[in-house]
Amino acid sequence: MGFVAFAWLLAAVFLSGGCCLHIQPDDIDTQLLPQYDYIIVGGGIAGLVTANRLTENPEVSVLVLEAGQLDTDGEIVTIPALIGQDLWTNYDWNFSTTAQSFLDKGKRPFNSGRVVGGSSILNGLVWTRGAKSDYDAWEALGNPDWGWKDLLPYFDKSETFTLHPEHNTTSDIHVDSDIPEHGRDGPVQVAYPNFIYEQSNSFLQGIASLGVPFLEDPNRGLVAGASIAPSSMHPLNQSRSDARTAYLDTSNRDNLHIATQQTVTRILIGKNNATSSTPPVPPFGFLRRAFGFAPTSGNTRRNVTCSKEVVLAAGALISPVVLQVSGIGPAETLRSINVTVQIDLPGVGENFQDHPMVGGFYKYSNSSVFSANNLTGELRQIAHDLYYNNRTGPWTAPLISTLAFLPLHLLTSNWTTFLAQASASPAPHYLSEETRQHPTVVAGYALQRQIQLNLLKRPDVAASEIMADSIGTLSVAVMRPFSRGTVRALHADILTLSSETIAIDPRYCSDPTDCALLTTALRFNNRLVNTAAMQALQPAPSWPWVGAEGETTQQEEARLLAAVEEYLRTEFHPCGTTAMMPLPLGGVVDPELKVYGTENLRVVDAGVMPLIPGAHLQATVYAVAEKAADIILLAGQGGSRGHSKDKGPHP
Ligand SMILES: Cc1cc2nc3c(=O)[nH]c(=O)nc-3n(C[C@H](O)[C@H](O)[C@H](O)COP(=O)(O)OP(=O)(O)OC[C@H]3O[C@@H](n4cnc5c(N)ncnc54)[C@H](O)[C@@H]3O)c2cc1C
Ligand SMILES: *[C@@H]1O[C@H](CO)[C@@H](O)[C@H](O)[C@H]1NC(C)=O
Ligand SMILES: *[C@@H]1O[C@H](CO)[C@@H](O)[C@H](O)[C@H]1NC(C)=O
Ligand SMILES: *[C@@H]1O[C@H](CO)[C@@H](O)[C@H](O)[C@H]1NC(C)=O
Ligand SMILES: *[C@@H]1O[C@H](CO)[C@@H](O)[C@H](O)[C@H]1NC(C)=O
Ligand SMILES: *[C@@H]1O[C@H](CO)[C@@H](O)[C@H](O)[C@H]1NC(C)=O
Ligand SMILES: *[C@@H]1O[C@H](CO)[C@@H](O)[C@H](O)[C@H]1NC(C)=O
Ligand SMILES: *[C@@H]1O[C@H](CO)[C@@H](O)[C@H](O)[C@H]1NC(C)=O
Ligand SMILES: *[C@@H]1O[C@H](CO)[C@@H](O)[C@H](O)[C@H]1NC(C)=O
Ligand SMILES: *[C@@H]1O[C@H](CO)[C@@H](O)[C@H](O)[C@H]1NC(C)=O
Ligand SMILES: *[C@@H]1O[C@H](CO)[C@@H](O)[C@H](O)[C@H]1NC(C)=O
Repeated sequence: MGFVAFAWLLAAVFLSGGCCLHIQPDDIDTQLLPQYDYIIVGGGIAGLVTANRLTENPEVSVLVLEAGQLDTDGEIVTIPALIGQDLWTNYDWNFSTTAQSFLDKGKRPFNSGRVVGGSSILNGLVWTRGAKSDYDAWEALGNPDWGWKDLLPYFDKSETFTLHPEHNTTSDIHVDSDIPEHGRDGPVQVAYPNFIYEQSNSFLQGIASLGVPFLEDPNRGLVAGASIAPSSMHPLNQSRSDARTAYLDTSNRDNLHIATQQTVTRILIGKNNATSSTPPVPPFGFLRRAFGFAPTSGNTRRNVTCSKEVVLAAGALISPVVLQVSGIGPAETLRSINVTVQIDLPGVGENFQDHPMVGGFYKYSNSSVFSANNLTGELRQIAHDLYYNNRTGPWTAPLISTLAFLPLHLLTSNWTTFLAQASASPAPHYLSEETRQHPTVVAGYALQRQIQLNLLKRPDVAASEIMADSIGTLSVAVMRPFSRGTVRALHADILTLSSETIAIDPRYCSDPTDCALLTTALRFNNRLVNTAAMQALQPAPSWPWVGAEGETTQQEEARLLAAVEEYLRTEFHPCGTTAMMPLPLGGVVDPELKVYGTENLRVVDAGVMPLIPGAHLQATVYAVAEKAADIILLAGQGGSRGHSKDKGPHP
């Protein structure tokens, strides 16, 4: 039997979904069962996918514990043009990073969903799978059956891709025929907006003149080129398709319970009695089983028990923290917060990866340009009416549909020099002092780094991304970062989860290669805005994106580096903090997503990605969770390939 401890927060009554049994705080005493087969921590993308698939079997009972509430389906959630307006609301954890010592020493905002549906309620809808070689790299890191060919069926299973009939031949999305490599009857709706700003064409033409090919769709395993990317949106009503509408609202099951406004403060771990006869498992002595314990005073706390498994899906920022406060993590971190060490697992909260991003601004000043900035006053009303009456017009357009993934050789002609400099320092050189105490984590990073350097040589793998909005922002991001950060619990009690209780430290540009790539990408922007097609928009870049006339190369580099150090932000793609890798490489979960040293505890969220793909993350999170559900179901039928492996394949 496994237990999860969680805290009960008294609060108001919220909307009830028709999906399942929605347990609200006031009803918890009467509605919560004493035991479930599976308990899922976190009702975001990974949690809802897993809950949905496990409960397809009516015999299986599942409880999802979610800290947030149901969204009230307002315009700020559903309408693509209003993306960003639900940040810093009640649907957001409002995190920030620690001071970024390799940048300008400032903290950075780090929004993350705290709502049923998780970050899929806040995200920008961009729908991109990474390159084939992104996932083949996961396999090369010691994870059999996690390559592109293995994930493809799950990418397909999660989506219904619709090329809107109106767009069959129109030039605005530049997709002339149907695209076979997509799913047709999965839960997430993937489609194109009915409105594309004219500036998209200028971007595509301009970038083509710099040798970047047009790519019909970046979701076919080859990622090098410029595209109008599809979005996670309904083709007909042109509204957000998120994990809640896709995987929860559609299920009508009484074996699925979701309790909202419940923050899991601890997973209770104990020795498993049933396996006491099995020989001790090195290096942990014995396998742990999720077990019970009541945290101290304060708000009302409860335990809930499961007969099969605890599934962690609290996201890459919080899942490692839940493990740490439960006694699973680097021993010295646990001791620093007075948590008894259950399993000394150095990789928990290490290997933090994200795509660092800088939004260069080149305001389009041609007065014929119509952009999202024009949607004020009367034009806003027209856009509003068009959206509601006809599901057309600029309100259907998300912030970003136009983007390009650039392999290194298209980004800079100087790419061999760049690579030589990137590989000049020994692998552990830029890791933190603390991380370097863990030889396994260092070994994992060294192998990742070697794989990254090889990927960067390829013409079909992205080194950087450019995202173009309608007003003149050309955001650039690093797709294959070399920097590695950490996530650490600062307190044993995480009832109040905030930047006071967890330290999110991406360590952006701790490896200077990442900032160097960003300055290179900003130089490419400056070439792009000088192309004929882009000049017609009359881009008006200001300091620091362009410098003074007659600036030397050195001055240019210094200016761009200072701009990067000031304006660098997250692309909201945290992952890697509970990495799926062999133990000798600092891994946290095995290829069946089971936490090393445990018998019935898995992680299924973005944290398990060992190496960040060169893509926006959501499509991958859906696919990984679909595969996770299959793995859990198979194990539940006694089909597991064995208990938690103490030794994975050696690199
Ligand atoms: C602002 C923003 C924009 C983004 N834009 C894009 C985009 O355009 N395209 C794209 O592909 N990706 C985008 N992403 C990334 C994508 O949405 C995430 O990668 C994805 O949602 C991660 O899924 P997850 O299941 O790992 O975590 P989440 O979806 O974040 O879910 C985690 C859930 O766990 C809950 N939880 C956490 N801790 C606890 C606890 N202790 N107890 C109970 N519940 C808990 C949280 O409240 C949350 O609901 C964006 C993300 C953000 C934040
Ligand atoms: C985030 O900030 C908003 C606005 O202040 C607030 O309503 C919300 O409760 C905050 N979220 C959390 C988890 O505190
Ligand atoms: C779009 O293409 C599909 C498949 O080729 C076809 O069945 C459909 O009729 C086309 N729609 C329009 C509006 O042309
Ligand atoms: C859009 O349509 C889908 C599918 O019918 C539905 O689930 C969703 O609630 C709709 N959204 C809005 C905002 O109308
Ligand atoms: C293990 O056995 C002890 C004694 O029989 C019992 O109290 C405890 O609850 C058991 N633990 C689990 C995880 O089943
Ligand atoms: C939770 O479980 C632990 C261990 O069985 C027990 O000691 C504690 O009293 C329980 N707490 C509650 C609130 O039931
Ligand atoms: C850990 O315990 C010690 C001794 O009780 C106390 O002084 C310290 O503040 C505690 N640390 C934390 C992070 O709670
Ligand atoms: C959009 O707004 C800008 C700034 O107010 C203005 O110069 C421009 O003419 C407007 N574009 C259109 C097409 O109305
Ligand atoms: C309404 O939408 C249709 C296509 O869906 C489009 O042809 C028509 O122009 C739109 N009407 C208005 C007023 O924009
Ligand atoms: C190539 O990069 C090196 C090192 O950064 C630099 O010194 C050199 O000037 C660059 N050459 C060109 C043509 O950009
Ligand atoms: C401004 O945009 C209009 C419409 O695309 C175009 O005809 C005109 O040439 C542009 N102005 C300049 C100076 O390029």
